[in-house]
Amino acid sequence: MRATVNGLGLAYTDEGKGLPVVFVHGFPLQRGAWQKQIAALRSSYRVIAPDLRGLGESDSGSGPATMAQFAEDIHGLLQQISREPVVLIGHSMGGYVALAFARQFPKMLRGLALVATKAGNDTPEGAAGRRATADKVKTEGSKVVVDAMTPKMLATSNADARLVEQVRALMAPSKPQGVIAALLGMAERPDSTAMLAGITCPTLVITGADDTVIPPAESEKLAKAIPGAQLAVIPQAGHLVAYEKPDEFNRIVTKWLDGLKTAR
Ligand code: MLT
Repeated sequence: MRATVNGLGLAYTDEGKGLPVVFVHGFPLQRGAWQKQIAALRSSYRVIAPDLRGLGESDSGSGPATMAQFAEDIHGLLQQISREPVVLIGHSMGGYVALAFARQFPKMLRGLALVATKAGNDTPEGAAGRRATADKVKTEGSKVVVDAMTPKMLATSNADARLVEQVRALMAPSKPQGVIAALLGMAERPDSTAMLAGITCPTLVITGADDTVIPPAESEKLAKAIPGAQLAVIPQAGHLVAYEKPDEFNRIVTKWLDGLKTAR
């Protein structure tokens, strides 16, 4: 499906009925990263998964794609398709976006799941590294990022050739303009640590025990700082935990969502 939001065409999946659950993908991914959740949850929930601007099949904007802009895009899309509060599930960069959404649109949140993500912003060196990568993508294309990220996405124990190829295929179509915009947006994102204590909706934090991109210690910090948050650590899973260990991930998320549904 496609909608025009903030002047750009955004592609999204919208399947099933019931409590709306919105999945926000990471970098440099697209909504296909959630295909195993969409398939499992659409019989019990309304599952919505956008491609963030510049990624997947969505149009690119101009300038950095800030986390605040991504959050505004999601809100704009929801204004068109579902006015009721949603459960937002964000992976990695999608988690940065979910925290921006929680800051900008707290009343729209029925629940929040933060997957393999963190609240802190980039160090000056980290931000400079992202800008240098953005310059490289300008001249060499998205392959620079896809090649760098592919070996880091999965736990070594799960990195068989077929799965690695599938993960690469999720990232390979990323357009340079969108990759650059997201890199620059992440580089300038604010530190969200101070807002965590003010999150009032039910929150679930999930990480892969073997995530080397964003270590599990970051998830522990999130779960400690957000009032009442639950923490789930999935063994033998890396950064792309939902794709790598879908059965375990879906079981944890479904149990949590079912709890939200009955608490309604
Ligand atoms: C992601 O998976 O979304 C990114 O690795 C996050 C980041 O680079 O900070």
